[in-house]
Amino acid sequence: MDQIISESRKFCLNSSVVSHTPLIVRTAAGDEFELETGAITADETASLLNSLTEERDVAQLASLLPTRSTEYVHTLVDHLAVHGIIRPVVPSIGRTGLDALLEIEDLSNRLLYQTLYRNEFWINCSNATKPGDIPQSVIYGMVIENYHFLFRESYFDAPVLSYVPNTDVRLAMNEFFAEEYGHDELLLKSLNQIGISREDLAHTVPLPQTMALCNSLAYWSHNDPLFFFTTLGILEGKDIRQDSFLDAAYRIGIDSDFLKPVKAHSDINLQGEHGSLTRKIFSKIPVVDNETMRRMRALTHLFIELYDAFYSSVWQHYSSTGELLRRIDKL
Ligand SMILES: [Fe+2]
Ligand SMILES: [Fe+2]
Repeated sequence: MDQIISESRKFCLNSSVVSHTPLIVRTAAGDEFELETGAITADETASLLNSLTEERDVAQLASLLPTRSTEYVHTLVDHLAVHGIIRPVVPSIGRTGLDALLEIEDLSNRLLYQTLYRNEFWINCSNATKPGDIPQSVIYGMVIENYHFLFRESYFDAPVLSYVPNTDVRLAMNEFFAEEYGHDELLLKSLNQIGISREDLAHTVPLPQTMALCNSLAYWSHNDPLFFFTTLGILEGKDIRQDSFLDAAYRIGIDSDFLKPVKAHSDINLQGEHGSLTRKIFSKIPVVDNETMRRMRALTHLFIELYDAFYSSVWQHYSSTGELLRRIDKL
């Protein structure tokens, strides 16, 4: 017989023992076989089968029969498999959408705790208790960069509004976008309070880290929509509640008229449950293949780095700048 079974191929039990003396097994298909003592005893066969209640490769099975040749073990495994008494373990080609997302969420949570939650911006926000603990320019800068981000939200939401592979997902995204549209206007109301106009903002550019985040999301939305969907839950405050920033701003005594529109935006996210949009989307996705999982894991590292850089740069730039607006004519 040709040796078609490799040492690394895994097998598991596909039958149950119905009698030990004589040794009779019944396969999952309902066929019964009596396994007689031959080159190995019925007891040896029984313990071999018993070990296969867990997945084992051929090399492991050979170690259970140290006095038999490799060829013999291969032939034995082949015969047991041909009759359906054991079966090869076929690696899964994927997992359900929700299963896939939970793994990506675990990974992104771990990375967020290692990086973003420890960056200067968030540490200072969580420690701030009194005026001066966070420079006022950082609070204003955060709203300016958020405005730039939301002003460009159509760059990265638009490509998935026509998501063809799944109608439920497309409808959920369209509903979400309808709720999102115009949120930059809310933040503009805050900025108007400190004398910054729409016209002023039209002549400024965001920080490079803000633009990097926008451009990356737009690229993923165009070219890797499934990965893009995983980022929405984080961006919409599944883990980082915008309240943490708001709470800090209120604690250090920032003018409540300035904060009111920012709070209105945060409340829309909370009430609209935008943070759970990603779970809603992935619950509609039947399967995510292994190759896509590998790609999403890698991109999750990159996305969290970009997100961390966004907040870190808000702190670094606005805590030291003399001017709030990065005017094009002055750059
Ligand atoms: Fe929004
Ligand atoms: Fe939102």
